[in-house]
Amino acid sequence: TPGSQDKAIISKARYAPPWVDLSIIGIAGGSGSGKSSIARSIVNQLNLPWVVILSMDSFYKSLDPESSRKAFLNEFDFDAPAAIDFDTLLKVLEDLKAGQRADIPIYSFAEHRRLPGTTSIYSPHVVILEGILALHDQRILDMLDMKIFCDEDADVCLTRRIIRDVQERGRDVQGIIKQWLAYVKPNFTKYVDPQRKVADIIVPRGVKNKVAISTVVQYIQQILLDKSAKHQATLKRLGRESMNT
Ligand code: ADP
Ligand code: C5P
Ligand code: MG
Repeated sequence: TPGSQDKAIISKARYAPPWVDLSIIGIAGGSGSGKSSIARSIVNQLNLPWVVILSMDSFYKSLDPESSRKAFLNEFDFDAPAAIDFDTLLKVLEDLKAGQRADIPIYSFAEHRRLPGTTSIYSPHVVILEGILALHDQRILDMLDMKIFCDEDADVCLTRRIIRDVQERGRDVQGIIKQWLAYVKPNFTKYVDPQRKVADIIVPRGVKNKVAISTVVQYIQQILLDKSAKHQATLKRLGRESMNT
């Protein structure tokens, strides 16, 4: 079995060759606006092996017993930045940028808590970071190659959320509406909507907007081509330099 020194070396291992430079695409927008669906659609159309979706759902903070009790009564605010563990998210993005493995927490919406264990990500070339506040933290904004904001009418968002949260997140209609009016709606105005100003593109009609999605896909393909061309040029230069010495 590996000793502690070996473990330290393994945990520092690069899983990406040094020339692989991670590109990160951020997708923000209201709850139910179609962020997760758009992220999946981009991944499907890119059809490349090293593209992963990182959902900010995974980075909700663990709650103390009193906050957890409130969460089950739909009296806890999950829509303010304080609910999200931005530091852990930033560390994950930095590790991936450095070619290192990142361990992603697993979150249960039904239980309002992190589950035991993690999922590991190795060496992606593209990460799609999606979440209501994906364009909120300046440290994360500085790492993004493209910033997208999903624009959808609030009534469409709410009706989608009711259906989804009942079917997939273990909620009831009264609770969903109570939480929406107390926290989701006011925090949309306060924190989510202002992110439009830092977005590169604003996408209306969600996953139905084929032109927007294919534009994003082409942009990502171009980023990857440019990086590959840059790497080829470096190899050529190094080759010429070694012949001259
Ligand atoms: P977000 O991640 O922004 O909350 P999702 O992509 O998860 O939004 O969409 C919320 C719910 O609405 C999901 O259950 C999804 O399947 C559904 N949905 C998303 N886009 C559409 C659409 N254009 N038409 C119908 N249902 C949709
Ligand atoms: O996928 P979506 O963008 O809708 O996910 C974010 C939403 O999840 C937030 O609006 C927040 O209110 C909700 N949430 C919740 N319960 C949790 C964590 C987040 O209802 N335990
Ligand atoms: Mg989502």
